[in-house]
Amino acid sequence: MKKIKILQGNCIDKIKELDDNSIDCVVSSPPYFGLRDYGTGKWEGGKEDCPHKRLTKISKNTTTGHANMFNHGDVVGDAIYKDICPKCGAKRIDEQFGLEKTYQDYLANTVKVFETFKPKLKDTATIWWNVGDSYHNYRPTNNKQGLYRNPDYPKQSIAGNRQDLAKYSLKRNQRYQEIKEKDLMMIPNRVAIALQEAGWYIRSEIIWHKPNPMPESVRDRPTSCHEKIWLITKNKKYYYDHEAIKEPITDTTAIRLLQKNIDNQKGSLRGNGGMKSNGNMKAMGRKKFDKNIWQNL
Ligand SMILES: C[S@@+](CC[C@H](N)C(=O)[O-])C[C@H]1O[C@@H](n2cnc3c(N)ncnc32)[C@H](O)[C@@H]1O
Repeated sequence: MKKIKILQGNCIDKIKELDDNSIDCVVSSPPYFGLRDYGTGKWEGGKEDCPHKRLTKISKNTTTGHANMFNHGDVVGDAIYKDICPKCGAKRIDEQFGLEKTYQDYLANTVKVFETFKPKLKDTATIWWNVGDSYHNYRPTNNKQGLYRNPDYPKQSIAGNRQDLAKYSLKRNQRYQEIKEKDLMMIPNRVAIALQEAGWYIRSEIIWHKPNPMPESVRDRPTSCHEKIWLITKNKKYYYDHEAIKEPITDTTAIRLLQKNIDNQKGSLRGNGGMKSNGNMKAMGRKKFDKNIWQNL
């Protein structure tokens, strides 16, 4: 039986342990910008027995999910102090991806991860990179630590629920010239452009459609029900088995193909919504295309 080795740690360090020219495929859903804290930070200095946590945020009655985490022996999210613990002065060291101070730092970090695994990729490798988006909610600060006057969670977040939302999501403390309050930040697109500018091939924008999305309480835009997955490559030519992911034809196409006179039929002018320029559309006997909209089953 083939052995599987799991490398656990900061991806920037762990990728370096891999052999050059050894990766066929990268599939990742890295943390999205400023949305979640996975609780992987470590503390330096301060008091050893200090929990570095806001105990007022932890109770059986909290509705943010911390109660559940607490029952499992730990807490995540806004119960953890993010920079310096005000109780003991310990400093938080956090190599977590996604909690960068600005979206520009997030883009730079993404490019850095790609540059780190570039020599490890085979020439034929593909990368499937899932990135979600969020809305910009600027929250002005009113004290030295950068705490928020209004400690509400970002109401426009696509995170879907309040659990684990980063209290100090630093993006909320940044006012950008180019992104206004309430603007969709367009993070997935910025990631793709940053990678393209760094020399990577952006080969497809795949829409991950969620037909049963988490309801959003907003009343001035549609509820978001998709995320993006970028198909990215190092080279123009790479391994891609399009036959393997073709979908079967629908029942109606199968019935159409059973018509006796099919070879003599003119076909339809309406192919591709009337945009087909090289003749009429005829029923096709092969499998359906491998489409760039994927749906949760
Ligand atoms: C959106 S989750 C991905 C979950 C994963 N797809 C799964 O199904 O289990 C992002 C994960 O990236 C991890 N992470 C954050 N920063 C990281 C880093 N620098 N190196 C490696 N993993 C990191 C987080 O701890 C979290 O588990």
